[in-house]
This record gives sequence, structure tokens and C-alpha cells, in this order.
Amino acid sequence: MPKLAVLAINGGEKRCNVVWPTWPMWDDHERQGLLAVLESGKWWYGDRVKEFEEKFAAFQSALYGVTATSGTTALETALVALGIGNGDEVIVPPYTFVATASAVLRVGAIPIFADIQPHTLCIDPDDVARKITARTKAIIPVHLAGYVADLDRLGEIAAAHHLALIEDACHSWGSQWKGKGTGAIGACGVFSFQASKNITSAEGGIILTDNEQLADDCRSFTNVGRRKGGAWYQHFNAGSNLRLTEFQAALLLAQLTRLEAHTLTRQTNADIITQGLRGLPGIIPIENDSRITRRGYHLYTIRLDLDALGITRDRFVDALTAEGVPASVGYTIPLYKNPLFERMSIDPTSRPYLGDRVDYRQVSCPVCEQVCADTCWLFHTLLLADESAMRAIVAAIRKVCENVGELQPT
Ligand SMILES: Cc1ncc(COP(=O)(O)O)c(C=O)c1O
Repeated sequence: MPKLAVLAINGGEKRCNVVWPTWPMWDDHERQGLLAVLESGKWWYGDRVKEFEEKFAAFQSALYGVTATSGTTALETALVALGIGNGDEVIVPPYTFVATASAVLRVGAIPIFADIQPHTLCIDPDDVARKITARTKAIIPVHLAGYVADLDRLGEIAAAHHLALIEDACHSWGSQWKGKGTGAIGACGVFSFQASKNITSAEGGIILTDNEQLADDCRSFTNVGRRKGGAWYQHFNAGSNLRLTEFQAALLLAQLTRLEAHTLTRQTNADIITQGLRGLPGIIPIENDSRITRRGYHLYTIRLDLDALGITRDRFVDALTAEGVPASVGYTIPLYKNPLFERMSIDPTSRPYLGDRVDYRQVSCPVCEQVCADTCWLFHTLLLADESAMRAIVAAIRKVCENVGELQPT
């Protein structure tokens, strides 16, 4: 029998032979910065942390920045500083990293899931409006993959119901909404600098806001309850120690020098992929929103029309990866299907135990469930390769789509 397979997964030749950029990227900026901190003997929460906070806030067009140990603790800080706590409800999307919802639980509040939009993968303002109750105190949209959630509609809803709008901007360094950086468009926004992120110090996070009082409250919480003007051993609230070190700030200052150029390169390269995939049967395009005046890509997301392709997303990802384009299945279940949430409704020993008040087993966000089954991700590092690599990504995706018959069950 002649061998019909042309797809690499079936023994054919790989379509893409690019050596992909590795992450994190670093050079003498990082080396010199770290050495300077080491040799100064000033390792603790000082001038470099302050300098980074100011520079990153300015980069995202915010007035104030308060660093924290991670995106997760930055979210917790924002919630505490906004007075959100026991029994309050906070509306979150289910297509996100667990921290968006677990931070809500950590402060004693209850995450309520609103569905996402199929063509943006961000929270659906119509479903947010449906989920508001007398207990709702905040909305946390996630700018997923760097795509900015509809901040106009969400801002209107938040204002009409006196809710805080907290941007989970942990994927959106460099993204802009109508010319303003993400983060301080709502009451505040949080960013992560964890190792996989577009600017990193291995771990770290920041809260951005235009509200000085809120910034002071965040600072106090991250610095063991101290306050500006207070004595060293005077503590005004049960804050935590969420301070960054000068080593982390040195890394972040060095990384920040590349963020603008990297953001523009990723955007240009992502546009090449988007153009190249236009009209390709099997691919559902992500909508363009002209209000997103700059898009910082943490991920390039690809929604698949599984009916047209006749295969599962996982099979597609395996085939694309075999062609030389490392792809990921991303989030495979909505957050509310995690044991963490299911347990809170059924196990009285769970903390918190919500019983009938919110039964996460009954939650249904159909768009998110579909997206969890049909979407795959390319990581931001691929978007830092050259233009010919982008054309190779397109060619590899086209090859898989056009030869999908080879992957279909017989
Ligand atoms: C959307 C989102 N929110 C929050 C976080 C939490 O950030 P960190 O890992 O720095 O705690 C992440 C991290 O991956 C994230 O992707």
C-alpha cells in the first residue's frame, strides 16, 4: 500500500523548521542590574522598586503603581483595598487562570461566573448584567491573551450598579483601550511578572490605579499595614508582606526597556498570522475591535470549527506541534468545573462551604465550555520570531486544515 500521509504527525515532512525564541530573554541589562544591586548591599524594597513602579505605571498610562509578590497577591490586595470581603459577590469569567477567582475566595468573597464572548474570549457584558445581585460588589474582567474586554460597556454597568471594576490585566502588558493603557481604566488593574509573562522577574505583580487613596491602601496592605507618615512599628491594618526585592526590580527595569519593541513586534507578527488564516475553513476568526488601539499579545488564540474539521482540538494541536509549531490546548475546563469549586457546594468541611447558596455544579457558561473544547494557543515567544517564521506558522496551520482527512477517524 502506498503511504498517503503527508502530515508530519503521520510521518510526512515538517512544514516549519524554525528555531523558536526562548524565554525569558535577557542580556547585559539584566546582568549589570543584578550585579549593581548585589554590590550595593541594598537588596531590600528600595529605589529600584520605586523606579520600576513609576516607569511601569507610566508605560500603562496610570498614575500610581504598587508592586506585590505576584499577580495573585496583587489581585487579593486590590480586593482588600476596595473593601471587598465576607459574603460579597464578585463577577468573574470562567475562561482564565484560577487566581482571578481564587483571589476572590481568599478575601472571603464569592466568585460568580459570567460567560465569555465567542469572538473575543473575554467576559460578556450582557451576562455580567444578568448576574448582578444586591450582594455584587465588583467585576473582574480578564484581558485574555492581551485582547481588551469591552471596558466601555463594563464601565457603564459598574457605574450604574456602584460596582468596582478591577482589570485582571495579567495578559495585557502594552495593550491599550482607546489610546490608554490597560490597568487603570477601571478602579484599578493588576499585572503579573511570573516567569512565563511578557515581562518577568520570575515572580512578581503590580496594581495600577489613578486613585491616590486606593494606591495608598494597596501599599499599606502589601507593606504589613504600615502607612505613609506612620512610625515604623505602627500598623494600621492586618496587611501582609508582599514586597518585591531590589533584585526583582533590577530585572524588571531591564525587561521594561524591551517591552515596547516586543509588544510592537508581536502585534505586527500576529497580524501576519491573522491575514494568512483569513477565510481558511476550520478557523473561526477572533473579532477585531477598533477600540483596542494596541494589542499586547500574551497568546495567539485560535478557535477551531470542529464540525468543519471533523477532529478534536487535541488532535489538531498534536498535528500542528508535529509540523514544528508548538501549540497548547490552553484551559480545557471552565474554572467552575475545578474540584475547588465543586467541593464548596458539597463538602461541609470545605472553607468556605457555600451549600445551596452557590452550587457551582449547576453553573453553565456554554460559550466558555465550547471554547475550552475548540481553542488552542500559541505562546507569545513564537510571535518574537521573524516574518518568515510567521508565514511558516500560517503554512503549517493551512497544511493541517487542508489535510485534516488524514486525522479523521476512519
Ligand atoms: C489571567 C491571570 N490572572 C492572574 C494570574 C496570576 O498571576 P501570578 O502567577 O503572578 O500569581 C495569572 C497567571 O498566570 C493569569 O494568567
